[in-house]
Amino acid sequence: MNQEDMKRAVAQAAIPYVPSDSIIGVGTGSTANYFIDALAGLKHKIRGAVASSEASAKRLRGHGIEVLSLNDADDLQVYIDGADEITRHLHMIKGGGGALTREKIVAAASRKFICLCDASKLVDVLGKFPLPIEVIPMARSYVARQLVALGGQPKLRTGFTTDNGNVILDVHGLEIMNPPELEATLNHIAGVVSNGLFARRGADVLLLGTVDGVKTMTL
Ligand code: A5P
Repeated sequence: MNQEDMKRAVAQAAIPYVPSDSIIGVGTGSTANYFIDALAGLKHKIRGAVASSEASAKRLRGHGIEVLSLNDADDLQVYIDGADEITRHLHMIKGGGGALTREKIVAAASRKFICLCDASKLVDVLGKFPLPIEVIPMARSYVARQLVALGGQPKLRTGFTTDNGNVILDVHGLEIMNPPELEATLNHIAGVVSNGLFARRGADVLLLGTVDGVKTMTL
């Protein structure tokens, strides 16, 4: 099984977590795209989806799945998305695709978070993958200096604007020993919209694609 096969396998393994007659939260990225494609086969069984990005909304609509605004949905039963790194504590780094803020909102509004990853994403310590931070454009330099003071090396993601009209700083060189604490610290920097640490609201279930098949991990 190569990496793409693993992504496809975990996307398929997520289908039993989709309750019938529900509105579900759908994430962003290549693994989430496989899930959206698999969801197309179930489209008459669900009421619709809340998407964490314009790109996912477009893909869902392309399959004839109704896309609702989060404001028009109650709490969602489940949110299904990938991650860039995940630990055994089900803490994650997300935002490689730049959709972290909407992902965090939809995840917060969902009762259950099912994370889909291939085996390469499971790590002991988060931080090898640069941590994405969404920042209000006028605060970019100020926030970057605060991130340097915290021991990181921020790099502006060039030529990229988020769905919310902001910029992303990718922070290199972090070894994140206490993800919930760093998540809160970063949220308190003025100008930070959100950060890619998903630890305070981590995943509830990890479907991990391995060469031996899909493994299910919970806390
Ligand atoms: C999008 O902003 C991210 O949080 C994605 O969920 C993450 O980057 C995983 O993407 P892939 O499935 O493409 O690796």
